Amino acid sequence: METKTGIAKAAWGNTDGKEVFLYTLTNAKGVQVKITNYGGTVTSWVSSDKNNKVSNVVLGFDSLSGYLAKPPYFGAIVGRYGNRIAKGKFKIDGAQYTLATNNGVNHLHGGNKGFDKQVWDATIANDSIASLQLSYVSKDGEEGYPGNLKVSVRYTLTDDNELKIEYTAETDKATPLNLTNHSYFNLSGDVANTILDESLLIDADNFTPVDSSLIPTGEIKTVKGSPFDFTKATKIGARIDSVKGGYDHNYVLNKKDTSLTKAATLTDDRSGRTLEVFTTQPGMQFYTGNFLDGTIKTSQGAGIQKHAALCMETQHFPDSPNEPKFPTTILLPGQKYHSITVYKLSITK
Ligand code: GLA
Repeated sequence: METKTGIAKAAWGNTDGKEVFLYTLTNAKGVQVKITNYGGTVTSWVSSDKNNKVSNVVLGFDSLSGYLAKPPYFGAIVGRYGNRIAKGKFKIDGAQYTLATNNGVNHLHGGNKGFDKQVWDATIANDSIASLQLSYVSKDGEEGYPGNLKVSVRYTLTDDNELKIEYTAETDKATPLNLTNHSYFNLSGDVANTILDESLLIDADNFTPVDSSLIPTGEIKTVKGSPFDFTKATKIGARIDSVKGGYDHNYVLNKKDTSLTKAATLTDDRSGRTLEVFTTQPGMQFYTGNFLDGTIKTSQGAGIQKHAALCMETQHFPDSPNEPKFPTTILLPGQKYHSITVYKLSITK
């Protein structure tokens, strides 16, 4: 593996009349994360396992064409509103807004052409630091959202194998905003394995139950005594059969403020890898790749099967603009949106 710490840039194609690049972030341990400015997407995260076998722990493709074929948000920045807004409708100060509906009757992950399908501007401040700054201006009316929104995402790979994602945004009209990263993890480093044997701990005593179209019912429900309880490390496959369709739920993290705290710990015995998730956000969508069905192929040609990977999308709760009891997601002009999520990879021998 290349060991020069820092960031390198390579041409990766064109779309929408804009140039797309692939950036390789390398830390002092030789761990590499690749990110493209198409969708602000993490395309790979390559590290050694406990047997010094090097493999990639996220779903991704080797070329831009894989992403232009619209995979379900693999590694991408999701916005303007991550997850669902019921029927694509909400009101701010009595004014009704209608968003693109791209998931049955609902709005999902920013609409038809969300932030995951946009070409972001990228800046390398210093090529000896493994840090990439991405920015995007979402115009007033884009996918139905109010206000011109300037959004920036800074990715940094630290020497402690942390991928730090820092989001900032400003708007000129009140708008809902819920930014996340949609990486799909498989700590075994081999998508032929499902994630059902990996163990997960989520620091959440409650979750938000959903209706049949995956819109929260508004209830904040205890996980106690249910298959949703991951307050102790539990194999993901242990109770998944009693959750219709698999896990695709927002967990209400046990936190009282917006400090950076640990939300979850994922472990895989085969590889010895552990992934910890820290966030300033109040929620986390735990999604077990239920809609993967083998149709999408890896760059090597293997079909990506159901439960081949999982997502831990730090976020505000789905459909918050329609749920007055949920923490607000409305960003006002003059306010500065700021959130941080850190994914930390380590090896337990
Ligand atoms: C999120 C949603 C899922 C699904 C995936 C993308 O995790 O909650 O229902 O839409 O994104 O396929």
